[in-house]
Amino acid sequence: MANNTLDESKQLATWYFAFAFILFGAQLLFGLVAAVQFVMPGFLFEILDFSVARMIHINALVVWMVFAMIGSVYWLLPDETGIDTVGIKIGKLLYWVFVAAIAVVVLVYIFVQTGPADETTIWFINEGREYIEAPRWADIGIVVVVLGFVGNLFLTGMKGNRSGIVTVIMADMIAFAGIYLAGMFFTDNISVDQYWWWWVIHLWVEATWEVFVGSIAAYGLITMIGAHRKVVEMWLWIEVAMLFGSGILGMGHHYFWIGTPEYWWEIGALFSALEPLPLVAMFVHVLYDWGKTQGAEEEKGNAVSVINNKPAFTWFVLNAFGNFLGAGVWGFFHTLPQVNLYTHGTQFTAAHGHLAFFGAYATILIGMMYIAVQGKNNIKILNNTKSSIWGVSLVTGGVMGMTVALTIAGYVQVLVSRAQMGATWAGYFDGQNGLWFSQAMDWRLIMGVVTFLGFLFLTKDLLSTGKSSVHVR
Ligand code: HEM
Ligand code: HEM
Ligand SMILES: [Fe+2]
Repeated sequence: MANNTLDESKQLATWYFAFAFILFGAQLLFGLVAAVQFVMPGFLFEILDFSVARMIHINALVVWMVFAMIGSVYWLLPDETGIDTVGIKIGKLLYWVFVAAIAVVVLVYIFVQTGPADETTIWFINEGREYIEAPRWADIGIVVVVLGFVGNLFLTGMKGNRSGIVTVIMADMIAFAGIYLAGMFFTDNISVDQYWWWWVIHLWVEATWEVFVGSIAAYGLITMIGAHRKVVEMWLWIEVAMLFGSGILGMGHHYFWIGTPEYWWEIGALFSALEPLPLVAMFVHVLYDWGKTQGAEEEKGNAVSVINNKPAFTWFVLNAFGNFLGAGVWGFFHTLPQVNLYTHGTQFTAAHGHLAFFGAYATILIGMMYIAVQGKNNIKILNNTKSSIWGVSLVTGGVMGMTVALTIAGYVQVLVSRAQMGATWAGYFDGQNGLWFSQAMDWRLIMGVVTFLGFLFLTKDLLSTGKSSVHVR
């Protein structure tokens, strides 16, 4: 692999990262709008209602992560396979198709917003499925683009050296793309519709995306600290087995109250309670490899610090903690039906949703962006700059702060709306009118602003790292 000029595959990766980062910014801005509306309900009334702001917030979230994941694959493919990515020209063309489609979808969300609630709405405006609301024409476009990407991946994997990491990603991407289809058809029966919708949402974040994170964590550890491939890949296979083992039937925790048969209570309780185990394994994996590598260097008498990309490594370690806390601990809290009966659909869910998406995915994908910045400029990032420290601290602190605020708000809802007032209409409002709830919403907004400030530092850092003189070439 050439050192000075970037592989075309890596160049395409940087395009994917750039658009992902822009959408990340958009996600935060629309999140702020929705958070203001909790505090001042009249804000932007009938111009950009809460439902629209929230929809853009969480759809942008999913799309930027998908972009950054595809970017990560294009980035690591030449390193792992030892060859140029096959069919990269088509890959680049599809990138522009993808960007154009997403831009049109977002503009329609913002300016058209709603339709007559018939087939034309589903086809052209909004499918009305939380997180994956893209209208059907865009759905079909997304499938074509993603199939092109999977094609590139497979042709490259089959021609070049198929490392364990590449093999896992290949298998994972088939599942990742295939599951998306479950969210593309509409049924009139809302229970049936939700049943399939959860296949995309749950099986993505709790199975295929987690396996993906395991793969890039493995790649990152090899690249950043020179972890032993054998050890890292052994962990990866263990994680894959565990994640698919618990994640697939763990889906039962979304089937408790949507009109599915009651046997899902037992299945959901058992398997979803097992879900934190692979997350512990991933946590141990990162820290163990780090410790082991440091120890080996010390024995050889080398300097202990062998990390060649400090900010990326920081984000990877945060991923290990964040995944465990957000998905494992906050997920486990409400996963038993006995508990979920009270917590279902409260702000507690939002607390978990924020910490899990952030901890499990945002962190490691930002880490991959730093790896790309490093590779693009052909440098070692041996130190964190002031702005990378501010960026990581404010973003992480902000999201943690929001999580705590939402957890408190959820607790109020559980106690007042559900336990005391028995999930009545009056209870719903009493829960939300209390002081603890409304103060929690204020804090969520404040912490949201903190998160956004961190994002600005992060932007500055990612754009300037390549030019900074503190880094060793
Ligand atoms: C990184 C992995 C994960 C992510 C990104 C994630 C994200 C989310 C999100 C966004 C929701 C809200 C869905 C909605 O809009 O209704 C949710 C719900 C839920 N999650 Fe997770 N989750 C993850 C892992 C887990 C794990 C490991 C567990 C259990 C151990 C878990 C348990 C739950 C439960 C029980 C609900 C339903 C909440 C309710 O009834 O309102 N999650 N998750
Ligand atoms: C500026 C920072 C942010 C603010 C102000 C913010 C605000 C909000 C608001 C107001 C909602 C709607 C909650 C509701 O329906 O009650 C929401 C939902 C959501 N946000 Fe954020 N958010 C921010 C950052 C993030 C980040 C960084 C992530 C993940 C990486 C994220 C993931 C989510 C998810 C998954 C939901 C849906 C939760 C659910 O259905 O339970 N947000 N956010
Ligand atoms: Fe789930």
